[in-house]
Amino acid sequence: MTVLITGGTGKTGRPLATVLRERGIAVRIASRHPADDPDHVRFDWADPDSQRRALDGVDRVYLVPPVGVTDPMPQVGPFLAAAAGRRIVALGSSAMLPNAPGLAEYRARIASMPGCAVLRPTWFMQNFTGRHPVADGIRERGEIVTATGSGRLGWIDAADIAAVAAHALTSDEVADEYLLTGPEALSYGEAAAIISEITGRPVRHRDMTVGELARRLSAELPADFAAGLAAMDEHIREGGEDRTTSTVQDVTGRPPRSFRDFIRAELG
Ligand SMILES: NC(=O)c1ccc[n+]([C@@H]2O[C@H](COP(=O)([O-])OP(=O)(O)OC[C@H]3O[C@@H](n4cnc5c(N)ncnc54)[C@H](OP(=O)(O)O)[C@@H]3O)[C@@H](O)[C@H]2O)c1
Repeated sequence: MTVLITGGTGKTGRPLATVLRERGIAVRIASRHPADDPDHVRFDWADPDSQRRALDGVDRVYLVPPVGVTDPMPQVGPFLAAAAGRRIVALGSSAMLPNAPGLAEYRARIASMPGCAVLRPTWFMQNFTGRHPVADGIRERGEIVTATGSGRLGWIDAADIAAVAAHALTSDEVADEYLLTGPEALSYGEAAAIISEITGRPVRHRDMTVGELARRLSAELPADFAAGLAAMDEHIREGGEDRTTSTVQDVTGRPPRSFRDFIRAELG
């Protein structure tokens, strides 16, 4: 079995490669800038030839769609056609951006393909530590700015998403969708308090209105994407992400990592 890992240098692709290799499964790590390594392959959503070459000799695919777009289907649709007959496990998200029918189609199309699955994780714990506006705000100003109020999310470690992806790619039984969370739901204010406690450096959550956030984001991002992100904060504020699921435990046999353990390991 050989698994092509698109987004192979990213937050979920990298730990997925590690898990599959530990199980003796051959991986092909896709990147626009592949390392000089026989397991790495050039792959660009803007270059269909690179996609066809990356698929050659591959049985299964981990699919991370083009990032930062509200309609991935113009690129993903032809890729799915080129990958026909292979098992595809695709990264999606727990929430759906409103007014983004392309994202809904992406999810529905893959979930309906026999033997294929969509992973629907909630927000990543890595947003607090990696290259992300939340992590930047913590590092630069000791502040997290959102429009989420006291709404909670079931933060998940990307490594737990990768563990479920490894299962879905390799096991005999595969579900259409996996709704993935960590073990507890926390608001940004509660997350900030845990980070302050563990790092000894004050971090606070500053709330703003959804309208203010939309104006701020639209200065930096395409208008439709900015509006979608602001609507996501509204969805969180209204309690739409205040839940946990047992999927990581059910699938992997071990509990997902807690936010506290993640922050202690990454920032403590
Ligand atoms: N962050 C969250 O809280 C969250 C929550 C739910 C779902 N998600 C989903 O997670 C996904 C990944 O998000 P992320 O921003 O954290 O990214 P990531 O997976 O950490 O990194 C993005 C990956 O995409 C690859 N990539 C970028 N542009 C590409 C292109 N033109 N062609 C081929 N590959 C390309 C990059 O590889 P190279 O640079 O090596 O080419 C990189 O490996 C998104 O689909 C997002 O919707 C995120």
